[in-house]
Amino acid sequence: MKSQVIGHRSAMLHCIANPDISGVDQSYQYFADGLLIIEEGKIAQLGEASQLLALYPDLEIVTHPNKLIVPGFIDTHIHYPQTAVIASYGEQLLDWLENYTFPAEAEFSDPEHCRETADFFVNELLKNGTTTALVFGTVHKESVSAFFDAADKQQLRMIAGKVMMDRNAPDNLTDTAQSSYDDSKELIEAYHQKNRLSYAVTPRFAPTSTELQLQLAGQLLQEYPDLYLHTHLSENHNEIAWVKGLFPERSNYLDVYDHYQLVTDRSIFAHAIHLCESECQRLAEADAAVAFCPTSNTFLGSGLFNLSKMERHNVQVALGTDIGGGTSFSMLQTMQEAYKVCQLSQNQISPFKAFYLATLAGAQALKQQHNIGNLQPGSEADFVVLDLAATPLIERRLKNVTNIEEQLFVLMILGDDRAVESTYSFGNCVYKRK
Ligand code: GUN
Ligand code: ZN
Repeated sequence: MKSQVIGHRSAMLHCIANPDISGVDQSYQYFADGLLIIEEGKIAQLGEASQLLALYPDLEIVTHPNKLIVPGFIDTHIHYPQTAVIASYGEQLLDWLENYTFPAEAEFSDPEHCRETADFFVNELLKNGTTTALVFGTVHKESVSAFFDAADKQQLRMIAGKVMMDRNAPDNLTDTAQSSYDDSKELIEAYHQKNRLSYAVTPRFAPTSTELQLQLAGQLLQEYPDLYLHTHLSENHNEIAWVKGLFPERSNYLDVYDHYQLVTDRSIFAHAIHLCESECQRLAEADAAVAFCPTSNTFLGSGLFNLSKMERHNVQVALGTDIGGGTSFSMLQTMQEAYKVCQLSQNQISPFKAFYLATLAGAQALKQQHNIGNLQPGSEADFVVLDLAATPLIERRLKNVTNIEEQLFVLMILGDDRAVESTYSFGNCVYKRK
């Protein structure tokens, strides 16, 4: 059977490098009238429509007038069981966990609640143009199987893991070191590297794991190839003091994870706000990544992420929403908040940098840049169609822009789920705005 080839014709923008390293001009490609050609879920060609059309005279084409196609967004830190916790008032991290988050996570002992929430959550990601995410489940293994099943139905590239948590949490939310190892193993066997799914070993954070649990987490990483390690690091001052008290023999917070061989080139640490120089150096040396979660960091009053310090140390940084500490599923809104956080430290993120952080940098943090993160031929066809007239205000404001850089800036400041006209995964439309 001849495989189907489809073209999408629109303005197109994708990032091919970090603009602060390559220089802005080398960091992106923009086609005002572009053509993206897709074959068997992958990108076969990308270029100017006028040139490619001559090579594909019989091509079936979908045209997207007054739109901009960009790669699917990549959210490198999000908690699906906290979907209904978003916008919970008045606390900082540790009280917020106890008063809002843990009660909500306890409801995931019910497999039906897991399924219903997973379907809602996946749709919410797609509605916001997010095609890949690194996702926390709860302590219940059923929470993760429900998420993977929901993602797999739409052929999404997703990464998730069961929370490992065997102390300092309510009884109905704790496992044991052994059961966390066994349950994680069962999920790895069932889902890791199945279609586009991957597994992340997910100790919640150092305070809620015993030494034995952290050691078994490290053992899992040794036993299976290409597993991720996903956890929290250095988000809040009270949390950091707590870690110091629980692990007095370790030289800093990151060293707790390092001691159990959890700092690898497939480790993603969420927040990483209050790191010392040696922690930054160690992250860079290990080629580990950090997820900058600006809407969560301001909402929970955790602090201002220091992007320039991380980049000075060559630490790979990507963006996360951290729902439900974060306040929006939209990576456009997350870019806006990242811009504001950096402004407060006299450091401007350019629009190209923001789009890089939300796409290719996420892929690089997840070591998936050969599969996702931009629209290079050979990549999987995950992309978003942004509407340049999404709201009357956006349409009006965009009449005044003269180049793609200004257009991107307007989209990241004024855009949200309303700007997403449709979302494609592996070449298929998985969300279309009504
Ligand atoms: N640290 C440990 N657990 C959590 C969580 O669920 N959210 C955030 N933001 N930080 C954490
Ligand atoms: Zn988190």
